[in-house]
Amino acid sequence: MKTYDIAVIGGDGTGPEVTSEALKVSEAAARKFGFKLNWHPFDFGGERYLRTGEVLPDSAIDELRKFKAIFLGAVGHPQVKPGILEKGILLRLRFELEQYINLRPVKLFRTQDCPLKDKGPEHIDFVVVRENNEGLYAGAGGNLFKDTPNEIAVQESINTRRGVDRCLKYAFEVARKRRNGTPWKGLKPEDTAAGKTTQLTLCGKTNVLTYAFDLWFRAFQEMAPQFPTVKTDYAHVDAICMWFVKNPEWFDVIVTDNMFGDIITDLAAMIQGGLGVAAGGNINPEGTSMFEPMGGSAPKYTGHNVINPLAAINAAGMMLDFLGEEPAGAAIEAAAIQIINTKIKSLNAGQMGYGTTQVGDLVAEAL
Ligand code: IPM
Ligand code: MN
Repeated sequence: MKTYDIAVIGGDGTGPEVTSEALKVSEAAARKFGFKLNWHPFDFGGERYLRTGEVLPDSAIDELRKFKAIFLGAVGHPQVKPGILEKGILLRLRFELEQYINLRPVKLFRTQDCPLKDKGPEHIDFVVVRENNEGLYAGAGGNLFKDTPNEIAVQESINTRRGVDRCLKYAFEVARKRRNGTPWKGLKPEDTAAGKTTQLTLCGKTNVLTYAFDLWFRAFQEMAPQFPTVKTDYAHVDAICMWFVKNPEWFDVIVTDNMFGDIITDLAAMIQGGLGVAAGGNINPEGTSMFEPMGGSAPKYTGHNVINPLAAINAAGMMLDFLGEEPAGAAIEAAAIQIINTKIKSLNAGQMGYGTTQVGDLVAEAL
């Protein structure tokens, strides 16, 4: 039987609670589809840091590198200064394991969960491919004359041709493979006539950030001919924010830099029903990838069995899909949609009509 070894970092706050449900549903999928999952837990997070002063020992990175996938609950602890765990665990893993893609599907499962009037599941179904190793997150810059009236702070966005190209290539591939060649309904007749089946939008700010996005734009245009079925499109990041609200059906696949990707995916999460369902993957196609619910550790809900585990469950579905168990990934999503449509009152924490563990049970049973 095919066996997968997966590292698990439950993390802080409600992270461990949603992780348990994601593992429960994954186990149900493994039974149904005939494969085996071996979970390897790691206790990194705020509690360990407060107890031992250790965030993530170097040896842990080497140990985690041996896995093809890591499942991460959430990091962030109310007694730990903001930034320590985020940079020390999440960003460090993303960077050191070269998870250069942050893949965030945005899909509305049920009309009532969308805050936008007149939009339904047929309007909100796109994927954001966020560059995950460079840009403003690279940490370039510094402070001069700190704590004086003359203080200067510089924070630079790093964009390498290699980093941009590998991100664009991944995004073009996502677009090419989407819906197995069935044309996206947002295409115009002339696009279809030209052999296009999907659309990839570059999200940037070429009118102001003329160095960084000049590189992105040129690289995008140079790569496009290799993907003749993908229609290319460009939009500024501010306009994308407007259109996510007004015309989300205009988007199929979006590729963007690290900072813009961070911002637009929070907005996108809201139009798909909130952080209760939004999931993501930090992907290194040749190395160790890490899957996580998009939301944080929501410490105030810890231990109350009220947090929505569907985002973590969807992240587990993405992980199984990534590992090559595509039918299991698709079945998890279908089971989640089924219980949302038949049982769940609201996707918000505490308003689901069920507890965290019950929602996990329902999805596992539906599977
Ligand atoms: C995310 C989060 C992280 C980010 C934080 C926690 C460092 O907001 O995964 O989007 O900014 O990337
Ligand atoms: Mn974010």
